[in-house]
Formats: sequence, C-alpha cells, structure tokens
Amino acid sequence: MKTVLITGCSSGFGLETARYFLARDWQVVATMRTPREDLLPRSEHLRVIALDVTDPDSIRQAVEAAEPIDVLVNNAGIGMLGALEGTSMETARDVFETNTLGTMAMIQAVLPQFRQRKAGVIVNVTSSVTLKPLPLLSVYTASKAAVNAFTESLALELQQFNVRVNLVLPGRAPETRFGENAKPRIQSGIPEAYADLAKSVFAGWGQSSAVTRAQDVAEAVWRAANDPSSPVRIAAGADAVALAESC
Ligand SMILES: NC(=O)c1ccc[n+]([C@@H]2O[C@H](COP(=O)([O-])OP(=O)(O)OC[C@H]3O[C@@H](n4cnc5c(N)ncnc54)[C@H](OP(=O)(O)O)[C@@H]3O)[C@@H](O)[C@H]2O)c1
Repeated sequence: MKTVLITGCSSGFGLETARYFLARDWQVVATMRTPREDLLPRSEHLRVIALDVTDPDSIRQAVEAAEPIDVLVNNAGIGMLGALEGTSMETARDVFETNTLGTMAMIQAVLPQFRQRKAGVIVNVTSSVTLKPLPLLSVYTASKAAVNAFTESLALELQQFNVRVNLVLPGRAPETRFGENAKPRIQSGIPEAYADLAKSVFAGWGQSSAVTRAQDVAEAVWRAANDPSSPVRIAAGADAVALAESC
C-alpha cells in the first residue's frame, strides 16, 4: 500500500485530496498546522500530523514521522489579492515563505528517501492564474509562477533518480476557505487609486460561471501520482482547462 503526504489538509483541496486517496486504499498522512481528527473519516490508513511548511523543525518532525513516503503533495498555500502599492513587503514575504519556499523546503526534506529508493512523485499545486496575467494578483501569481519554473527545472534534475515532479494548476474555487483565509492580507491591499480597477475585477468574477471544484483538484493530483505518462502541467477544473487550452 502506497503512502501520500499532503500539506494543508484542514480545508479545501488538501482535505478533498486526502479523502480521495483514502477512499482508494492509500495510506494518507494528512498534515495540518492545527491537527484535527474530526475532518476525515476514521481509518487505520489515516494519520493526521502537525506540519507548518514555514517551520523547519515542524517539517523535519513530520517527514520523519511519516516515512516512507511515496508521494508528496505540496498543496498548502495562502492567497493575496491587492495592488502592489498597498502590499507590505512583510505580506509579500509571507506569501513567498508559504507558497514558494515552503514547497522547496518540503521537497528538500523528502528527497533523500526518494533518491535512495529511486522512486517517488512530487505534486506541486500552483494556480491557473500563472497561465494568463490578471490585475491585483501580482505577488500571489509571482509566488506560484516561481514554483512552476522551479518544478520544471527540478523535474529534469530528478529524472535520473526515477523521481517525478508534476504541477497541478487549479482554477478559481469559491467553495474552499481560500478567499476567507486571505482576507487579513487583502484588507490593506487596495489603495483608493485602485478602487475602480478592483470593482471591475470583482464584477468580472461574478460573471464567470465555470469554476474549479475541490474534486477536480483531487482527481488531477491522483492522475499525477498514478500515471507516469501524465504531462508535467495538469490543469484542474473547467475554467483552468479552458484557459490552458486557449494559451
Ligand atoms: N481556491 C482557489 O481559488 C485556488 C485556485 C488556484 C490555486 N489554489 C491553491 O490551492 C491550494 C489550496 O488552496 P484552497 O483553495 O484549498 O485553500 P484553503 O481552503 O485556504 O486551504 C489552504 C490550506 O493551506 C494551509 N496552510 C496555509 N499556510 C500553511 C502553512 N504555513 N503550513 C501548512 N499549511 C498551511 C491552510 O491551513 P490553515 O487552516 O492552518 O490555515 C489550509 O489547510 C493553495 O496552494 C492555493 O494557493 C487555490
């Protein structure tokens, strides 16, 4: 039985991906900053472990407790919407610390075992916003586009060890806690001079009917984990797939 470790399982895509793998007889290590046992079905195949991807000790302890790991899913992430002028460097650093450096740190922590076993899959969840630029998402997009570029280079570096690295690019998913969790960072991010732009961006979102469901992301992660012939980039969700096809 294979083992998957997923970051950011307290809600949204991470929680659904944990459910999806659990229902398909994988050993699931569902990691959360604040572990909760009541979110997923009870199972002898499930372990809920504390993990903050910005904390090196937490990463080391979680990976030690979980090994051997077959698949690492870097899903934990935080959102940021706002004009660059209204974004503090502290906020920009927080976004990169979690979305970009957190992903790199997790991969560094699992690589020794993957390399020694000459096996392993890494799935990095980024975003379809990296496919086509949108206003007021510069910092967030940069944090995810960096992971795309990092992943594609790393995939070449790890081929020799039979370690695969994939990207899953979800579209906009209003059903997760992403928007709610981003609110504290957004509040100061839209100065008056950008208010009209922000209004038109929000109005545009209201009109778009195609969205991404958490299950779309779980299915894309599953494909990346199980199909060695899957492309490095997998769009997840009707809106992301349409965008990827138009690029
Ligand atoms: N929703 C969208 O529209 C959308 C679209 C494209 C891509 N994405 C990406 O998809 C991923 C999942 O997002 P989601 O929509 O499922 O949002 P979500 O419901 O907010 O879930 C994000 C998860 O990441 C966790 N997290 C945040 N900081 C962390 C840290 N330092 N260490 C460990 N875990 C941390 C959160 O845990 P806490 O509960 O502890 O905060 C939460 O479990 C993210 O990488 C996001 O950037 C989202």
